[in-house]
Amino acid sequence: MSLTWKPTLKGRSLLTLLDFSDEEMLDVINLAVALKARRRQGTRGNLLARRQIALIFEKSSTRTRCAASVAVRDEGGQAEYLARGDIHLGAKESVADTGRVLGRMFDGILFRGFSQQTVEGLAKHSGVPVWNGLTDAFHPTQALADLMTIKERFGRLRGLTVAYVGDGRNNVANSLMLACAKAGVNFVNCTPGELTPDVELVERGRAIAGGNGATIRIEQDPHAGVRGAQVLYTDVWTSMGEEAQQEQRMKLLRPYQVNRRLVKETGLSDDQLVFLHCLPAFHDNQTALTREIGAMEVSDEVFEASFSKVFDQAENRMHTIKALFVSALADPEQ
Ligand code: CP
Ligand code: NVA
Repeated sequence: MSLTWKPTLKGRSLLTLLDFSDEEMLDVINLAVALKARRRQGTRGNLLARRQIALIFEKSSTRTRCAASVAVRDEGGQAEYLARGDIHLGAKESVADTGRVLGRMFDGILFRGFSQQTVEGLAKHSGVPVWNGLTDAFHPTQALADLMTIKERFGRLRGLTVAYVGDGRNNVANSLMLACAKAGVNFVNCTPGELTPDVELVERGRAIAGGNGATIRIEQDPHAGVRGAQVLYTDVWTSMGEEAQQEQRMKLLRPYQVNRRLVKETGLSDDQLVFLHCLPAFHDNQTALTREIGAMEVSDEVFEASFSKVFDQAENRMHTIKALFVSALADPEQ
């Protein structure tokens, strides 16, 4: 099986999806599709042989951490997990110095944390590709897996409509909006006025979407917002680092729960729809919080429905992160 990607991606960082051209982004997704098929056939190659990747995590992670570790090991490389407190970053050492040190040893750095400035600083000072594994502002590697999952389900991206329902200004919503704009997917952000996304970012997204024949809408009424959307997407109401706002968010976002009633408002049948969630999700009574208050952003019924593709989406985190590592660090096969 031949694996191809744009040679222009060699050595490139992904801090936000604005770093890639529309074509480059779609190319990474196509490479992820090919890598997934190749792995399913039992082939794990050597595309990252002897490559060393640092994984810096200031916040918790199941998917992103495991996706990155498995991706690099699958292709013959090695990953070093560095949690908050393991290294001096943010305590005794600046972002610039940490970046300069790690860049002397590693071939690439994946960072998850709070400030977008930190990931930008690492990219600026390390001299090696840096990938944003989630900051308060963006979650670009998630959005690549989201588009891949939508493409797997519908066989195309252009012309579809994604309705995101919930905290309209969080990292996942921001990156999903940009991803949709770049892929020519219509994007509706269903969110209360208090959680409206950054105006400048929306304008940026609209300009990109317009060039690809798509639209971006902000809609306060979730019932009107989801009408005709083939993809329903939600995320937690309170992101990591915002725990103090949990009570307020629960009040604000209760009418935005993705449940059977809301799904019906799409006007589409189950076999025409997909439900996505970046995960982790508060959908059942299996966590300390939901044991007390029940499901939050998605009902258990929708989470477990036939049209819910959340575990395909979680798996695709690995294939898309692998595609990013490979396109930045390996030479295209002939
Ligand atoms: N979706 C996602 O980023 O999951 P983790 O927080 O488990 O990495
Ligand atoms: N918006 C969520 C995404 C988790 C993957 C958070 O930042 O906690």
